[in-house]
Amino acid sequence: MTTIDDARLLFTGSLGCIYLENSARGLLPTTARDAALRYYDARIAGVAKETDPVFDAETQACESFASLVGATQDEITLTRNVTDGLNIFVTALPWKTGDNAIVSKEVEHPNGVYALYNMRQRHGIEVRMVDAGPDLSISVDAIARAIDSRTRLVIVSSVTFSTGARTDLAALGQLCQARGVTLLVDAAQSVGALDIDVRAFHIDGLVVGASKYLCGPYGLGFLYIRRALADSLHPTYLGRYSIDLGNAHEGDQGGNTYQLMPGAKRFDSGSYNYSSASAAVASIGILKAITVPVIEQHVLQLAKLLDEGLRAIGLPILSGGNERHRSHLVLMGLRQPTTEQRQLFIALSDFLMTKNIRVSQRQARLRFSFHLYNTSDEVQAVLAAAREWMQAQYISASHFK
Ligand SMILES: Cc1ncc(COP(=O)(O)O)c(C=O)c1O
Repeated sequence: MTTIDDARLLFTGSLGCIYLENSARGLLPTTARDAALRYYDARIAGVAKETDPVFDAETQACESFASLVGATQDEITLTRNVTDGLNIFVTALPWKTGDNAIVSKEVEHPNGVYALYNMRQRHGIEVRMVDAGPDLSISVDAIARAIDSRTRLVIVSSVTFSTGARTDLAALGQLCQARGVTLLVDAAQSVGALDIDVRAFHIDGLVVGASKYLCGPYGLGFLYIRRALADSLHPTYLGRYSIDLGNAHEGDQGGNTYQLMPGAKRFDSGSYNYSSASAAVASIGILKAITVPVIEQHVLQLAKLLDEGLRAIGLPILSGGNERHRSHLVLMGLRQPTTEQRQLFIALSDFLMTKNIRVSQRQARLRFSFHLYNTSDEVQAVLAAAREWMQAQYISASHFK
C-alpha cells in the first residue's frame, strides 16, 4: 500500500518549495514523465500501432478515470481540457428556443458561463443567473427557486475556483433528478483531491482537466456522461472513432448511414493524445494507490489548520464561513477590497514567494490549495511567514476592515 509519505517522493517539486498553487496546476510526478517518455521512445523506434501497448493509453486513461469517479469506461471520453468538456456536453444537448440553463455567475468559472452564452446566441436559450449563498458558495436553494418547466441544465463547480466553497452535490443531484433537469458538474477543483461519486450524486455530466488535482499534463481532460444520457445525444463533431465501425478498418469509407458508438465513446473523434494519456495514467495511478478518501482527509485537515491560523493572526479569509462548504482551498481576500487592500494581498503573495511559498492569485484573492504532498509543517511555515510580514509591515487586522 502506498502511503502519502511514499508518494511525496515522486513529486520532487514539493521537496524544493512549499507548493500551494494546486488550484492553478498540480505537480507532475516523475512517473508521469517516465510514462510519457516511454511513449516517445516507442514512437522514435517506430513501433506498430496494432501491437504496441503504448497505444492502449487512451483506454487505460478512461478506465482509470472512470473508477476514480464511480463511472464505467464507456461513460468517459478524452477531451483537451475542462472547457472542451463543457462545450462538448453543452453543444450536444437538444436545445429549443425558450429553454433555460442555470448558473451562478458570481462564483462560477467564466468558461462555464461562456458555453451557455454560446447556446443563447445559437439556440435562443435564456441563461439564468442565480445569486451565490452568503458564504459565497453555490446555493442549492437559489437554484431550486430558479428551476421551472423550461429548465434543461444546471452547471455548477464542485468547488468554486474563486471562493473555494464546496458545493452540496448530494442535495443538488437529488434536486435536479427530482425536477428532471440535467446536472453538469465542473470538477476541475476537486477530482483527485476530494471524493466524488457520479452515481451517488446523480450527476449527468462531469468535466475535469488533467493538470490540476489529477497531477497530469496540460492538454488532456475527461468528460463523463451518464450512459443512458450519452446514448440519447448526438455529438457536434463526428469522426471515425465516434462511429461503430464493426470490423471495418478506420480508413474505410462506409455507407451513407452510420451507427454511433455506444455511450460517451460517440464523443471521441480523431486520433488520441497518447503521450498525455500515458502520463495521466501514471498520475492517477498514484492517487488511486493512496485512495482519494485518504487524500481528502489529509487536504481538508491541512486547509482547516491554515484557515484557523490565518484568522488567528488577523488576516481575512473568504472561504470556510460555513462548515458544510469547507474544501481544501483557503481563499484570503475580501468581497470588495479597496485598492490599498488589494495591494496588501499582492505584497503578501510577493513576500511568500521570497520564502519559496507558492500560492496563486485570482481576482485579488490569494488561493492556498492543498494536495497529497503538502504537510502540516508547511502550514506552520506559511503561518510563520505571514506573521513575519505583518510585523515587518506593521499590518494588523484593522487594515482589512
Ligand atoms: C473551475 C474551473 N473550471 C474551468 C477551468 C478552465 O480550465 P481549462 O483551461 O482546462 O479549460 C478552470 C481553470 O482554472 C477552473 O478552475
